[in-house]
Amino acid sequence: MSVLSTESLTLSYGESIIIKELDLQIPKGEITVFIGGNGCGKSTLLRSLARLLKPQGGSVLLEGNHIAKLPTKEIAKQLAILPQGPSAPEGLTVLQLVKQGRYPHQNWLKQWSKEDEAAVNRALDATGLTELADRAVDSLSGGQRQRAWIAMTLAQETDIILLDEPTTYLDMTHQIEILDLLFELNEKENRTIVMVLHDLNLACRYAHQLVAIKNQSIYAQGRPEDVISCNLVKEVFDVQCEVTQDPIFGTPLCIPHGKGRCILPQLGGDHEKQAVTV
Ligand SMILES: Nc1ncnc2c1ncn2[C@@H]1O[C@H](COP(=O)(O)OP(=O)(O)OP(=O)(O)O)[C@@H](O)[C@H]1O
Ligand SMILES: [Mg+2]
Repeated sequence: MSVLSTESLTLSYGESIIIKELDLQIPKGEITVFIGGNGCGKSTLLRSLARLLKPQGGSVLLEGNHIAKLPTKEIAKQLAILPQGPSAPEGLTVLQLVKQGRYPHQNWLKQWSKEDEAAVNRALDATGLTELADRAVDSLSGGQRQRAWIAMTLAQETDIILLDEPTTYLDMTHQIEILDLLFELNEKENRTIVMVLHDLNLACRYAHQLVAIKNQSIYAQGRPEDVISCNLVKEVFDVQCEVTQDPIFGTPLCIPHGKGRCILPQLGGDHEKQAVTV
């Protein structure tokens, strides 16, 4: 069953149409990853799924209900989003930021509770930020700041989590840690995860479903092993690549052509075009 879906969704900025008449299904309890070149509309689409952007046409359905008609707090109880390049007010601490994630769970009857406190502590712990809780967000490194935003998104404790390039700025260890954490939330708690990733190989490793976007619509959609091919990468990213199997996970592994310092003798110096079978 689709937890989020779009019906003939058209998104635009003024006259410029970014996504045209898109029908998309996001399966419940799965990890869906949007891929596509810079500027193809991934962030625009993700934001519209969280009602941060009003469609020019068509609709977004959350559990079958028109998202446009749902109260904001209702949406925020079901769905959290980490947009691309968020910015925090000057001087706001990590703890204050992460606490913001709890706002949908509060009202004039139910003020800050032990449950809220526990959710915030869990999110800080999961993102390795407990020690940095009192630091100002704008004084952190790029990767630490990104993790603070992820912590805020996690503290919301929603069944659906949307993340726009969550691994940006993160070193290899933290990239894997964050993606493993999302994978566990999916596996153990059946959370639905939708994210934009630029690293195709990590996308193939973690996604149940890939959605490749090109020319205002879906170019291909399905399991990475069914979708990823040299042809798709050429069409979607305009780059020649070899597709092999990830030696650890068995998922597709894309190796782009291009220039580079080749140290394999059999290539005879032509590093640019030849494929290498390792
Ligand atoms: N606020 C805006 N006003 C006008 N045009 C916009 C706005 N935001 C994005 N665009 C344009 O819409 C198109 C899609 O942008 P979007 O940010 O969705 O791309 P993207 O696929 O997320 O790219 P990236 O991989 O670089 O993040 C781009 O051409 C962009 O310039
Ligand atoms: Mg984007």
